[in-house]
Amino acid sequence: MSQLTTKEAIAARRSIRRFRPDPVLDEHIAELLDAARLAPSGSNAQPWRFKIVKDAPTRAKLVAAANNQKFIGAAPVVLVCCVDIQGYITGTLATVEALSAAGGLPADMAVSIRRRTEELAAGPRDLAAARIAFNIGIAGEHIALRALDFGLATCWVRALDEQRVRELFGWSENIYVAALLPVGYPAESPPPRPRRPLSEIILP
Ligand SMILES: Cc1cc2nc3c(=O)[nH]c(=O)nc-3n(C[C@H](O)[C@H](O)[C@H](O)COP(=O)(O)O)c2cc1C
Repeated sequence: MSQLTTKEAIAARRSIRRFRPDPVLDEHIAELLDAARLAPSGSNAQPWRFKIVKDAPTRAKLVAAANNQKFIGAAPVVLVCCVDIQGYITGTLATVEALSAAGGLPADMAVSIRRRTEELAAGPRDLAAARIAFNIGIAGEHIALRALDFGLATCWVRALDEQRVRELFGWSENIYVAALLPVGYPAESPPPRPRRPLSEIILP
């Protein structure tokens, strides 16, 4: 177990695209998913869902569905990061009701969240999915950082055919595939990729 501070972990993380073939312990995968589970989410709806893929033929199909990004298939584990659209909507509405009943939510907020959630439910699936996927971005980055504790590495993969991945697993349109996270022991040690200076990211 490494002893990185949060600051050090954030600085040390890299997108890794070369992996050693060594298998990843199931208990480590469970720890990664537990880190995702603890992430914050809108109305605490926790819409993230994960498929753990280890078998080589399915990893090969994920490669094909992700523009032939071969490194995905070289990782011993691929986490398919999804959101449950209906689960988010019902979870959010339930939270609003519970908080309102307990007097824990100002009436204006309850009305606003309920209205926005109902609009989300009535609108196009892909728009709802993209908004809800905001939540799994946070959960997935928990995974990427927690992976460092076990000497593991990841790479976000968003360049994929969403429908193709969904159909590969026989999921309904209610499940939106937001990203893949290949996980494995790194076989490369790239230097930090460039970042904008603070002065460029602060709006006047
Ligand atoms: C939302 C998102 C989507 C990404 N999609 C891909 C991808 O499809 N393929 C890939 O090789 N890298 C992908 N990346 C990795 C980025 O290229 C990488 O984070 C960026 O170049 C910075 O490098 P670093 O992560 O090593 O700091 C993605 C990253 C994010 C956050």
